[in-house]
Amino acid sequence: MVPEPDAVRSVLIDVREGASPESSVLELAGRFSEKYPSVKVLLLTDEAERLALGALRHGVTDLLDPDASIEDLRLVLRRSANGGVNHSETFSGRVITIASPKGGVGKTTLATNVAVGLAAQAPKSTVLVDLDIQFGDVAAALDLDPTYTLGDIVVGPGLTDPIALKTLLAQHPSGLQVVCGVHSPAEADVITPQHIDALLRLLKKEFRYVVIDTAPGMSEQTLAAIDHATDLVLVTSLDVPGVRGLRKELQLLDDIELQPATRHIVINFEDATGGLTVKDVEAAIERPVDLVLERSAKVPRTTNQGTPIIAAMPRDKVSRTISELVSRFAHISAPQSRWGGRHRGRLRP
Ligand SMILES: Nc1ncnc2c1ncn2[C@@H]1O[C@H](COP(=O)(O)OP(=O)(O)OP(=O)(O)O)[C@@H](O)[C@H]1O
Ligand SMILES: [Mg+2]
Repeated sequence: MVPEPDAVRSVLIDVREGASPESSVLELAGRFSEKYPSVKVLLLTDEAERLALGALRHGVTDLLDPDASIEDLRLVLRRSANGGVNHSETFSGRVITIASPKGGVGKTTLATNVAVGLAAQAPKSTVLVDLDIQFGDVAAALDLDPTYTLGDIVVGPGLTDPIALKTLLAQHPSGLQVVCGVHSPAEADVITPQHIDALLRLLKKEFRYVVIDTAPGMSEQTLAAIDHATDLVLVTSLDVPGVRGLRKELQLLDDIELQPATRHIVINFEDATGGLTVKDVEAAIERPVDLVLERSAKVPRTTNQGTPIIAAMPRDKVSRTISELVSRFAHISAPQSRWGGRHRGRLRP
């Protein structure tokens, strides 16, 4: 029995190789969305990149990967069935914003590694956004040479149309998708906090995990990213200026009442020579430290090669520590640390 068009909210058309000729499927999708504008047309395809533009032109709402997990399928179908429902009602993923008051403390290192780690759990449903608007270096850290950047997304339909947005993302071999930073600082002038807000709203609808790298300090763009975060990862180096900055940042967040669901404090560059201990940091910020990453020459080496250490050396101590942070977001059982004391490489419950 064919249901009344009024009762149909979504139609899923299989475009996988051999299923049906692609051109006639797109034509059918076009005719369908014209005749029944309230019905969402979805395509099941393993060639999303190639089909995206054609699909966009024919009124397709979303593209579904045949390998998507049940959870991802549910997310897309629920989203499509709900039409224009407020995204916050349907969003069931995580937005992980990585920030710090000071520069050079390891934000990009953590963001790229965490994103690649999450992409291993949810390939095609993890996106990394380079919100270091002027001097972002996520593309270099992942050895990507993007055709499009954040600058292209904010001037076109990429901020409102999910398929247009997906055509502008860079693809990493891990399955991670990336909003790369602008090619030159001058291009960043046009990017406003409102653009960032719109971009993150759309990404939250489309991806299970949104990881955001930021510039040092509290720019308006970073505040927009913190506003959307389910998890805020605050990073500091193990030195007095870094820890003082962190204390001020925590105070500022309290003052402006931006309260993301969970805060995670990460200390980077732990080594035996420094004067400060983790206990000193906890006393200064009046809260526990969640994760401690040791200083390791392998980190800059892998960054310079454009492969995050979590992918290049998954069994390395630093990789295992980062995996524990990933498991906190992805609800997977993390590899157990074989080393370390109370804090080293361990997450507090
Ligand atoms: N645990 C570590 N051990 C050794 N080197 C590290 C470690 N973490 C990061 N680094 C190196 O420190 C440098 C700065 O790291 P990164 O670029 O991630 O910092 P950032 O906070 O993003 O900097 P910026 O604020 O300038 O964007 C890089 O060369 C990186 O490879
Ligand atoms: Mg950085």
